[in-house]
Amino acid sequence: MKTSTLKSNLKTIKADAVAILIYQDKKIFEEQISGLKKYFPNEIDHIIKFESFKGKPETTVFTYTEKKINSPRLILVGVGEQGKTTLETFRKASAIASNKAKSMKAKHLSIIFPKLPVGFNPTIEETAQSIGEGAILSQYKFDKYITSKKEDEVKLNELTVCTEDEAKYKSISKGVGIARIICDGVILARNLANAPASEIYPETLAQAAKESSEKYGFKCSIWNEKKIKQEGFGGLMGVSSGSTRPPRFIILEYNSDKKEYNPIVLVGKGITFDSGGISIKPSAKMSEMKMDMSGAAAVIGTIEATARLKLPVRLIGLIPATENMPSGSAMKPGDIITHYGGKTSEVDNTDAEGRLILADALAYARSYNPAAVIDLATLTGAVVVALGHHATAVLGNDEELISKIKSAGEKTYERVWQLPMFDEYEKQIKSDIADVKNIGSRGAGTITAAMFLKKFISNKNKKEYKWAHLDIAGTAIMDEGSPYIPKGGSGVGVRLLTELLRNWK
Ligand code: BES
Ligand code: ZN
Ligand code: ZN
Repeated sequence: MKTSTLKSNLKTIKADAVAILIYQDKKIFEEQISGLKKYFPNEIDHIIKFESFKGKPETTVFTYTEKKINSPRLILVGVGEQGKTTLETFRKASAIASNKAKSMKAKHLSIIFPKLPVGFNPTIEETAQSIGEGAILSQYKFDKYITSKKEDEVKLNELTVCTEDEAKYKSISKGVGIARIICDGVILARNLANAPASEIYPETLAQAAKESSEKYGFKCSIWNEKKIKQEGFGGLMGVSSGSTRPPRFIILEYNSDKKEYNPIVLVGKGITFDSGGISIKPSAKMSEMKMDMSGAAAVIGTIEATARLKLPVRLIGLIPATENMPSGSAMKPGDIITHYGGKTSEVDNTDAEGRLILADALAYARSYNPAAVIDLATLTGAVVVALGHHATAVLGNDEELISKIKSAGEKTYERVWQLPMFDEYEKQIKSDIADVKNIGSRGAGTITAAMFLKKFISNKNKKEYKWAHLDIAGTAIMDEGSPYIPKGGSGVGVRLLTELLRNWK
């Protein structure tokens, strides 16, 4: 979708549809409506009377404008009470306006930048960014494999945000521009996740990261199987041993020459297909496991956006990538793995493979002397039981880092919810024959997975770096759509982390 900002108004803007956001508070509602009645006395009367439109959130009405203004369709979108307005109100309203415009076969939508409530905290730029995000992300569709495109399908492919206010124009234009860049990162992540495992496997995932790095000027090194083995990544080697496709370890570096900063390291789980291995999964919904590389996809999308926004941070991305398959050469329950750095783990269940490959990457992350390490992983089914699809679980060892992630979560609406890491949980992953076991006894599956990872973030003197773990199993894979997140891969993490990095000091 093409995006732009224009100094224009309801009367003069020329698009296929123009959308206005309408508040629900009685006085403000009436003011807004009487403003519209100047142009459309009858139409607006009809809308109010027959459709009882009151400006409630997520409601829309529309009318054809009969040449009274330059755009042929007018869409009103309710945004609720001013006192409850947040950035998400505008993100969602813009998505709803876009979906409505598309359903009316408009190709070009213009949204009039709304008057913000008195005391509304976010800036004009941030509001414009949200409006941009809602529109752009709502029109995403993974349709490259659909050959029988509907003949009458029209794509909404242009958004213009309008304002008459000279003073606001610049901020709006900047916000919309930022939305475009960040959403490109989200869309890249969604495309990688939604692609079938026959298309995105370790080598092609690495290729996609390399392409992005070449386009946007960050570094990308790719380790092959020989190098992975040489470096002692026993977790990655073990998980990949059942697959005919070789593993890859992908290292991305943005601002790698700025040695004055300690880097922030992002680690993404890159299981390009998780069959469960010898501890094989049931067939129902196994196809979703092509998206078990959503953490990796989010890392690639975030680094791309960070590089394009030229953020003043040094950022490293580490992606262990492999399939988890059963075969005669596959890792077996009872195997013992030696990870990078020398710690060992007992494999009690080959389906708890994500933590095995993350263990190598987290141990390796220490070599960068990181300011902080954040890993993203579709790690446990248990997180879907605990939080469903509307919150990512966050666990870690540094409350300040976690609190920054929570704030970024509120702002972007990629919300996170903290789970505890009490010492007592550690008992569940104790092994009699290795340093740690890869599954816990019953209960708290998301926490015991994080407790496993925690084993690999400390050095010989038990000193840990600052670390947060995001379990995105519920939020990365959606089983139903919402206004700007379709069913399938959501691209979660890109907006969250880019926001975090934009505020990093
Ligand atoms: N990739 C899965 C977790 C998952 C489940 C992601 C559902 C998205 C949706 C992970 O590798 C896995 O299989 N975890 C097991 C761990 C168990 C064996 C301890 C799980 O959650 O069942
Ligand atoms: Zn698994
Ligand atoms: Zn998995």
